Amino acid sequence: MKILIIGSGGREYAIASKIKEQDSSVDITFAPGNGKTKSEFKNIDLAVMDFDNLANYAKENDIDFTIVGPEDPLCFGIVDKFEAEGLKIFGPKKEAAMFEKSKAFSKKFMEKYNIDTAKYLETDSVEEAKKYAYSLLHESKVNKVVLKYDGLAQGKGVIIASSEEGINEALNELLLDKKFGDDKIIVEEYIDGFETSVHVLISNGEYIMFPSAKDHKKVYEGETGENTGGMGSYSPNLMSLPYLKDIEEELVKPFIKGLKEEGIDYRGVLFAGLMINSDGIKVLEFNTRFGDPETEVILERLDSSLLDALIKTSEARLNEYKLEVNDKKIVNVVLASGGYPAKYDKGCEIKGLDTLSKDVKVNYAGVKADGDKLLTNGGRVLNILCKADTFEEAYKKVYDEIQKFHLIKCIIGGILVQWLRVYVCKKMNLMLNQTV
Ligand code: AMP
Ligand code: GLY
Repeated sequence: MKILIIGSGGREYAIASKIKEQDSSVDITFAPGNGKTKSEFKNIDLAVMDFDNLANYAKENDIDFTIVGPEDPLCFGIVDKFEAEGLKIFGPKKEAAMFEKSKAFSKKFMEKYNIDTAKYLETDSVEEAKKYAYSLLHESKVNKVVLKYDGLAQGKGVIIASSEEGINEALNELLLDKKFGDDKIIVEEYIDGFETSVHVLISNGEYIMFPSAKDHKKVYEGETGENTGGMGSYSPNLMSLPYLKDIEEELVKPFIKGLKEEGIDYRGVLFAGLMINSDGIKVLEFNTRFGDPETEVILERLDSSLLDALIKTSEARLNEYKLEVNDKKIVNVVLASGGYPAKYDKGCEIKGLDTLSKDVKVNYAGVKADGDKLLTNGGRVLNILCKADTFEEAYKKVYDEIQKFHLIKCIIGGILVQWLRVYVCKKMNLMLNQTV
């Protein structure tokens, strides 16, 4: 079977390596891929938004199935294009990807179908936004309010303000400087609690919930620094387990009902970011693709065939799929270029991979090849994962191994580039031995 994977990050690498691990006969090509997928699989030099050439490539090369990783091509209709050309592909069509493309669209849908979410205002008026944000700030027990760009912003369009000055700065950035574009903004109540990520395969009214996971968004150890795309992840998210039935009843089922009533053909994965507290479960956002770095850990829990799940989802035969998961504990720590999520250098040679213990697995993200060398080529560079019987064991192994990278420093253009090491919930150790 010939598969084309659209994307180049750790999530796409994880999908490919899981498929290959489960069936070594599958032939996998990436567009555009990264420096590691080039040697381990095959890359073609086509951008993720180059729909015409991607579809032509799939036709001319007898690709049996295409899997789309990132949101941009989904939101702009790659699935519509492929299906119109008679090509098989995994992911929601443009109409269904609106849940990711517009936070306001998702909010209205949630209101209509009684899915609990933070109260909000959608606006493009600075005055209106300021008035509402100030009132939410003063109502908030923790003195916080959230301002979000409505459209796609590569995970960076969310600002949490904790003062009137903070609100003014955020509004300047979002509405006056239009840092992310021309769309409206959402001003939203800050919800306190603990977060969890839920991934649900959805197809033609059927659904399958994938194992729980959590990612860590802050860049530095101890949950400090700026928000990023995600600096580490683990599965299961033990704190969320008692809520899984409620999540199914209060989120998944009403979501499916809403799709049916609105006539939306959703075939793909829904990734919901949730906040849970004593008031219940609230949706922070919907994404219409797999999370990164959540996917890296979720797929380690999957024992049934990933490829089969994706194909059956796209063919609206999800009722024929039986999900099998293991109860291993998975920890993933992201190694990022110094400076990320702001400015960082690229082109630093990655050394030390050959010294890593076989107990950990590496998922490659922002890397490029230079002959036999592997160089950094992005913010998030490597994911180091360990699968073990207990979280303690998995943490220890991952952190022991990433010390090896800590020793790496290299000079590019006179600048010292260092790795950042990130924190993955060490403070939760007390909970980690619970059995699930
Ligand atoms: P989003 O892209 O909407 O998931 O937001 C990114 C991150 O911002 C989330 O993972 C949360 O950590 C935080 N966040 C977003 N909305 C809220 C909210 N209403 N209350 C508290 N934190 C939030
Ligand atoms: N890890 C969060 C995301 O993929 O959006």
